Amino acid sequence: MIPPKHVAIIMDGNGRWGIKNKNSRNLGHKAGLKTVETIIRSSVKNNIKFLTLYAFSTENWKRPKLEIKFLMNLLETFLIEKINNLVNQGISLKVIGDLKKFPKKIQDQLINAQNKTKKNTKLKLILALNYGSKNELVHAFKILKKKRISVNEFNISNNLFTKNIPDPDFLIRTGNTHRLSNFLLWQLAYTELFFEKKLWPDFNNNDYNRILRNFRKIQRNFGRIK
Ligand code: FPP
Repeated sequence: MIPPKHVAIIMDGNGRWGIKNKNSRNLGHKAGLKTVETIIRSSVKNNIKFLTLYAFSTENWKRPKLEIKFLMNLLETFLIEKINNLVNQGISLKVIGDLKKFPKKIQDQLINAQNKTKKNTKLKLILALNYGSKNELVHAFKILKKKRISVNEFNISNNLFTKNIPDPDFLIRTGNTHRLSNFLLWQLAYTELFFEKKLWPDFNNNDYNRILRNFRKIQRNFGRIK
């Protein structure tokens, strides 16, 4: 069994958790951030090398303005308060997605956080922000066309935001919904998929370890016979 290198997560269910427990979708996002921290620590412990979190999709701009503002503030707080913590844990931060729509202050903080952590090698934490897989593919094809590079699998992969990052070994989606929501469609071609009933703020270390154990039992053939 080859140990998993890359875990990708769709952190779904914050809104429902917030309404159910605090009568506020935003407080669900706040609780979701705690789970983010737990899963980052657990990934380091489990020697995972890449952790990709879907934090804001290209479609999330359709949410109410106040919810978007709350999510931006949460991201800002995370970047300000947790950056030293990330450095101390040996984590490097990378962002995938089109950041041009984000407030300038957050763009600068993201660039700063990526620079500050770039020498770290324990875990690469990849935040998907204003990320959409279709948008990423169009962006890659446009580069190939402009530079007159031939269209093949290697060249497409090499022009995605995830260049030089191995494809995810497994994907977790919480929140009892079975879809990919425009997340890493190219990169997930051979990824094992785990759909969890729990809402993201309720997802914990034991759940993560159980999925890791189940993943380790899977024989992955990548189209071959064993
Ligand atoms: C999906 O749940 C979750 C999001 C759109 C935001 C995820 C953000 C966080 C976990 C906190 C910020 C993270 C970082 C890394 C700073 P939903 O709102 O669609 O839930 P619902 O399906 O119950 O409505």
